[in-house]
Amino acid sequence: MTFDPAALRAQFPILARRVRGQPLHYLDSAATAQVPLAVLDAVRTHDAMHRANVHRGVHALAEEATQAYEAARGAVAGWLNVAPDEVIFTSGATAAINLVAQSWTRSLSPGDEILLTELEHHSNIVPWQLAAERQGLVLRALPATAEGRIDLAALPAMVGARTKLIAATHVSNVTGAVTDVAALVAAARSCGAKLLLDGSQRAPHGPLDIPALGADFYVFTGHKLYGPNGIGALWARREILAAMPPFLGGGEMIRRVTIERSTYADPPRRFEAGTPPIAQAIGLGAAIGFLSTLDWSAVAAHEMSLTQRLLDGLAADRRIRIFGPAGLQSRIGVVSFDMEGAHPHDICQILDARGVACRGGHHCAQPLMDRFDLAGTTRASIGIYNDASDIDALLDGLDEVARRLCA
Ligand SMILES: Cc1ncc(COP(=O)(O)O)c(C=O)c1O
Repeated sequence: MTFDPAALRAQFPILARRVRGQPLHYLDSAATAQVPLAVLDAVRTHDAMHRANVHRGVHALAEEATQAYEAARGAVAGWLNVAPDEVIFTSGATAAINLVAQSWTRSLSPGDEILLTELEHHSNIVPWQLAAERQGLVLRALPATAEGRIDLAALPAMVGARTKLIAATHVSNVTGAVTDVAALVAAARSCGAKLLLDGSQRAPHGPLDIPALGADFYVFTGHKLYGPNGIGALWARREILAAMPPFLGGGEMIRRVTIERSTYADPPRRFEAGTPPIAQAIGLGAAIGFLSTLDWSAVAAHEMSLTQRLLDGLAADRRIRIFGPAGLQSRIGVVSFDMEGAHPHDICQILDARGVACRGGHHCAQPLMDRFDLAGTTRASIGIYNDASDIDALLDGLDEVARRLCA
């Protein structure tokens, strides 16, 4: 286990390029993280030397592809500390949540309730709306606190005998706040509901122990975990998966097909209809292999020291309001802010001209923006490869924004 920030940066070829004539300062890992050589090599090697469909052929390439694909499932399972047969590959967190929303909800009755939160990404809202429309379910949402956290004080009033599921983000993609999962687990247990956690923003910040967390469903997306696009995963406890009907039908997910009807394979294959994103899964496995060599307490300390540097720099400008926890407690390095007199898109454009990549907008979290009466925020997000020069380039860029737009 090592963590040498400079050596680590060298593993990400894109970080060496210039953007708009400037060195790249990539502070948008919460949108999509960059990929290390290990991932690029794994995907290329698969396609160059082992490309075949999985679970179907008996020839050597098919066996190699299947072995690599299943090894990637094992890597995901290791990252979550769960059993491989409880891991389903999907095209991302969105697809994983839609899978649960379309399949698991089938056993619910009209009037049953799903409890969301105001901090959710649209992909943890809209799938439930579709399920609610189809099945007459009721959606409710825990409010956000002024600090940009889930208001857990509202829990007792929001859960009851009709609550069947709590679906919440593990870490906010807007405020960086880490959710107090134990409180959600206790609330879910008190009424017999299940708990789904959207781990898209948590998974890139170190290995997880899902059984210890106590969730029933966990989802994440590969492209934020330093892996390829088009791959993600759903984890659920074996007995929950076993009782869920298929979501998509097609090849691979069946046991026996006649023209009249079909019987279905056991999970995870029941939920992986058709040819899966094989190279992407293998790339995700490589990303996890790469991440598993890192000393995560050192990485966390590094990310937190950069977050502190950023928070301090932002706090020094009275025009800037940090939208999210002002300190380091229970937060990650996803930092949103607004700047009096400057629109997030204009801020991001000025930053872009300086090679600084940030995200401006509603971050697919319009209910949260509505709650705070904001059109959007500027968001900087810190990954394993960032260093102090990235934070300083951002802060220098914000000085220019202030000079040009807020004079
Ligand atoms: C918290 C959260 N959930 C879900 C998603 C959706 O991930 P994907 O588009 O990869 O499915 C994102 C991506 O921005 C996210 O930040």
